[in-house]
Amino acid sequence: MSRIRSGLVAACQLAFAVLATATCKPPSCKAVPGTPGWPSAHDWQRFNVTLGGRLLQPKPPAAVCHTSGFGSTECQAVINGWTKFEFHQQDPVSVDWNNWTNDTCLPVVGAPCSGQGYPVYVINATEPRHVQLGVKFAAKHNIRLVIKSSGHDFIGRSVAPNSLSIWTRHLSSVKPHASFRPRGCSAGKGPGSTTAVTVGGGTPMWDIYSGLDALNLTTVGGGAKSVSVGGYMTGGGHGILSSRYGLAADQVLEVELVTANGEIITANACQNQDLFWAVRGGGGSTFGVLTSATIRTFPTPQLSHAIVSILTLNITDPRPIFDMTAYVLSKYPAMSDAGLSGYSFILRGTPIPPEFGNFTDVVGGFVFSGMALDSTPESLQAMWDPIFAHISATWPGLFFTNIQTDSFPSFFAWFSVYYDATPGGLNLRLGSRLLDSDALTKDTAALSRALETFTGAGAANAHMVAGKGVHEAPAERISGMDNAVVPAWRKAYAHMISGTNFMPWNVTAREEAKREVQRRVAALKALAPGMGAYVNEADPEEPDWQHAFWGSHYPRLLSIKRAVDPNDVFWCTPCVGNERWKEVGDRLCRVGGH
Ligand SMILES: Cc1cc2nc3c(=O)[nH]c(=O)nc-3n(C[C@H](O)[C@H](O)[C@H](O)COP(=O)(O)OP(=O)(O)OC[C@H]3O[C@@H](n4cnc5c(N)ncnc54)[C@H](O)[C@@H]3O)c2cc1C
Ligand SMILES: *[C@@H]1O[C@H](CO)[C@@H](O)[C@H](O)[C@H]1NC(C)=O
Ligand SMILES: *[C@@H]1O[C@H](CO)[C@@H](O)[C@H](O)[C@H]1NC(C)=O
Ligand SMILES: *[C@@H]1O[C@H](CO)[C@@H](O)[C@H](O)[C@H]1NC(C)=O
Ligand SMILES: *[C@@H]1O[C@H](CO)[C@@H](O)[C@H](O)[C@H]1NC(C)=O
Ligand SMILES: *[C@@H]1O[C@H](CO)[C@@H](O)[C@H](O)[C@H]1NC(C)=O
Ligand SMILES: *[C@@H]1O[C@H](CO)[C@@H](O)[C@H](O)[C@H]1NC(C)=O
Ligand SMILES: *[C@@H]1O[C@H](CO)[C@@H](O)[C@H](O)[C@H]1NC(C)=O
Ligand SMILES: *[C@@H]1O[C@H](CO)[C@@H](O)[C@H](O)[C@H]1NC(C)=O
Repeated sequence: MSRIRSGLVAACQLAFAVLATATCKPPSCKAVPGTPGWPSAHDWQRFNVTLGGRLLQPKPPAAVCHTSGFGSTECQAVINGWTKFEFHQQDPVSVDWNNWTNDTCLPVVGAPCSGQGYPVYVINATEPRHVQLGVKFAAKHNIRLVIKSSGHDFIGRSVAPNSLSIWTRHLSSVKPHASFRPRGCSAGKGPGSTTAVTVGGGTPMWDIYSGLDALNLTTVGGGAKSVSVGGYMTGGGHGILSSRYGLAADQVLEVELVTANGEIITANACQNQDLFWAVRGGGGSTFGVLTSATIRTFPTPQLSHAIVSILTLNITDPRPIFDMTAYVLSKYPAMSDAGLSGYSFILRGTPIPPEFGNFTDVVGGFVFSGMALDSTPESLQAMWDPIFAHISATWPGLFFTNIQTDSFPSFFAWFSVYYDATPGGLNLRLGSRLLDSDALTKDTAALSRALETFTGAGAANAHMVAGKGVHEAPAERISGMDNAVVPAWRKAYAHMISGTNFMPWNVTAREEAKREVQRRVAALKALAPGMGAYVNEADPEEPDWQHAFWGSHYPRLLSIKRAVDPNDVFWCTPCVGNERWKEVGDRLCRVGGH
């Protein structure tokens, strides 16, 4: 601590010498290359030695196109990989959503490739010790720190310019336990023992699911193969099993974290309880770096699946599309309570995603891909039949309805077919809102109008991933302690997402995308003013984000953040406690310059 302080004072004296201020203040911005505060090449080299040679200085992945030519095989591999999540997952600095690198090296002919938006150095961490060294080095040298795992983040938290990045992708392991009791918890204190799995902080969903399936077990996880536990669980984490079992953050029994002061700690219901509470829902890269998590597992369920389409070719007047969709959404609470869960698209008039069938026409309407546990194809059909009947009676001849059903012996058998295979590698802006039963059922005319705005010119999602299992807030029962997940989840029946793509290098287009998404989300907010939004799939500039993403938990999260990270070693936006710093161009500076 005293070494850190004297380092700060030295840097501060250098920076402020010319101003001859009476009291020396700490530097007002994080160090950047080329300024005296930035470590020397020799410092970096010594740091690399302590890391056992795991320090990287990677080029942006598309740089090869700009140096070896767009026809080169290396560049072709980058172009082919760019839309796939696995490509960005395997790269130390790449992320799925281009804008977060400031579009500074896209695989596009004639595009600039400065790499300005990417980190300067990366630690390829395979052990908690590497993370620990990285956190301490960044703190000591006043360097902006980022944590990247898969790079999926929709709100840009896993990449930053002028930074040191800790890449957690290779903190990946899957270790099942026949019986687990959190450390320091004895009988009568904390939760009882249960089957569980300890996974490394960067472990992808596919590895967790496949490792558990070998034991006929599963857990609550995300929809894409490469989503990693680090960002997913810390944000809350929903999955198709959530409506029965709760959110991912609700399943966690214990975590191992590297804290802002570089300590490796264990947090559970019996020790470091504040951190244990905060890290389950309080957001990624804010309270520490997750090096492992131990998660409750359960027997893998048998299930039936249905793809439902309610579509029209007549998109001349979109109102019936939204009236019909509002009617279907008004049935969400009842269907969810009856065991259904799934993902859906609302279409104003777009070619429909190929996984829903081979339609070549532009269609409008509603498509749903979902399941019910311990059910049969017949019971799923019976759930939808009355809805189809109502729709053909209300809008005769307008919509054609279809349901295709199938059964699977395990969650993993289902996931292997229905994992999320949508494309990445775009400039994308999202906005979202959680809706409760009142918003879905009380006034379907108002819901219809809100959906029309929310869907924009293209498509929106109304995911059925909350429901009873989430409302029962099972964290306390499972782990012995509740968590920081936004309370809105505990009443939600639909997770509504709307997004828009925008042109790179065009600030006007980017600002338009931002305004458009805010306009769409505002329509749903008006319907459900007391609810909130899921931080991991949301508008990064959500107005009043503290309240939208954390609700009544925010004050406690903020006080924990101030206590465990008083110097803001971890900083991201929109993240708990980030109010004392802001981005100024490509630098991170103290608000008010002090
Ligand atoms: C294709 C796709 C499908 C998705 N499906 C779902 C879904 O089904 N359910 C759902 O809830 N969400 C889903 N999401 C959203 C997902 O939860 C977020 O994108 C989440 O941030 C991903 O976490 P990550 O670690 O994989 O990504 P990253 O972008 O690498 O990290 C995300 C955030 O977590 C931080 N972080 C990463 N690792 C750690 C760590 N070890 N310790 C501390 N902080 C860390 C990063 O700094 C960043 O702030 C999906 C996203 C995509 C792109
Ligand atoms: C770190 O050391 C390893 C092994 O000596 C070397 O391969 C690597 O290039 C070094 N990293 C940097 C950034 O110099
Ligand atoms: C794009 O990224 C910049 C930071 O590089 C951010 O300020 C801006 O809000 C982002 N815009 C969108 C639409 O995501
Ligand atoms: C990172 O480390 C892992 C595990 O040692 C290794 O397989 C991988 O090649 C490394 N990646 C880079 C870019 O150095
Ligand atoms: C998993 O279930 C299958 C089918 O019931 C059974 O044959 C197999 O032995 C089980 N495997 C384990 C590890 O329990
Ligand atoms: C399509 O809908 C519009 C508006 O409801 C209606 O006027 C028109 O006749 C319909 N067209 C067809 C081919 O059904
Ligand atoms: C769409 O058509 C292709 C090729 O005919 C086929 O392989 C695929 O299974 C079809 N998809 C669906 C969802 O029917
Ligand atoms: C930038 O985006 C705006 C708004 O979409 C558009 O009008 C303009 O033509 C774009 N500029 C360029 C150079 O493409
Ligand atoms: C993005 O790039 C622009 C143009 O090069 C630059 O002015 C801006 O500061 C960069 N923004 C960030 C957040 O890096």
